[in-house]
Amino acid sequence: MTRVFSGVQPTGDIHIGNYLGAMKRFVELQDEHECFFCVVDLHALTVPQNPDILRNKILQLARIYLAIGLDPAKTTLFAQSHVPAHSELAWLLQCITYFGELSRMTQFKDKSSGKENVSVGLFTYPALMAADILLYDTDYVPVGADQKQHLELTRDIAQRFNNRFGETFVVPEPLISDVGAKIMSLTDPEKKMSKSAEDEMGRISLLDTPDMVKKKIMRAVTDSENCVYYDPDKKPGLSNLITLMSVQTNRSVEDIAAEYDGKGYGQLKKDLVEVTVNTLKGIQDKYNSISEDEIRKVLSEGADKARVIAEKTLQKVQQKMGLR
Ligand code: AMP
Ligand code: TRP
Repeated sequence: MTRVFSGVQPTGDIHIGNYLGAMKRFVELQDEHECFFCVVDLHALTVPQNPDILRNKILQLARIYLAIGLDPAKTTLFAQSHVPAHSELAWLLQCITYFGELSRMTQFKDKSSGKENVSVGLFTYPALMAADILLYDTDYVPVGADQKQHLELTRDIAQRFNNRFGETFVVPEPLISDVGAKIMSLTDPEKKMSKSAEDEMGRISLLDTPDMVKKKIMRAVTDSENCVYYDPDKKPGLSNLITLMSVQTNRSVEDIAAEYDGKGYGQLKKDLVEVTVNTLKGIQDKYNSISEDEIRKVLSEGADKARVIAEKTLQKVQQKMGLR
C-alpha cells in the first residue's frame, strides 16, 4: 500500500483555506493509502509561542483532524514532538542541506523579512519537514501550493542522501490540487488566506459561527465591474469567491462563473454563505462531540505506531552515515 504523510502547524485559526487546500484531501486519501497525519508542534516553535496556548492548540488541531472525518482506525494521527526521531533525523539532514538552499526558501524570506530576532529554527524548518516526510517512506504528500518549494527541497535532500550513502529514502511526490490549492484572503485577495494574519476578517475559521461566516463573505473585497468571470489576475477577489464555491460544490470554476454572470456578486456571495455554513456545520457538530480523553488516547496510540516506523528509518540512516 502506498504511504501518505502530511502535517499542519498547531497555530492560529485553522481556516477554510487549510481545509479546502489540503485537509479535505487527507480524508479522501485515507481509504486507499496508509496515511500519517501529524500535528507539527516542533514547527510551531520556530516563531514565539505562549506555552499554554500552544498546549491547547495541539489538542485543538487533533480534534479538528477527527472532526473533518479522519478515522484513527484507518489513519495514524500523532504529534511530531511525541516521536523523537523527527528531531534526530532533522539534525542529520541539516548536515547534508546547504545554507544556499535554505536561503532561497520563499517562506523563510516572507516570515523573516523586517523582523529583528529571527530564530535559527525558522531557517532550518525545511530540513525538519523533510525529516517528517522521509521517516515514513512517504510516496505522496498532500499540501497547498505554498509548500511546493519545501517539497522540491525534500526531494533534493532525499536524492542527495541516496546518491551519497546508497538507496535509503523513497523520493516523495507532492499532491497539490488544481483548484483550491491557494485560497486568498477575503480582505486582501492578493495575499493568501493566513492563519495568523492580524485581520481576522480575511479568513474563515473552521470554527466560525454562521453569523461570522456571513459577515466575512458579504464584506469580501471584490471589484466594481459587476460582471462575473473567472480571472485571478484581473479579478482576484471575485475569482477567489468562485474558487471557494467551486471546491465546495465539486463544480468547475467556469460552470460557477457562467451561472452567476447576470445574477451579480450579491447572489454569489449569498449562496456561498449558505454552502460554507453547511460545510462548517458538519465539521463543528463532530468537533463538539469529541472528548478530550478521546483526543489524548488517539494521539498516544498514534505516536506509538509512528515511533516504531520512524525509529527503524532513523537507525538505518545513522548506520549509513557512520554512526552506531
Ligand atoms: P499551515 O497552516 O502552514 O500549517 O498549513 C497547513 C496546510 O494548509 C498546508 O498543506 C498548506 O499548504 C495549506 N494551506 C495553508 N494556507 C492555505 C491557503 N491559503 N490556501 C490553500 N492551502 C493552504
Ligand atoms: N510546512 C508545512 C506548512 O506550513 C507543515 C508541515 C510540516 C508539513 N511538516 C510537514 C506538511 C510534512 C507536509 C509534510 O504547512
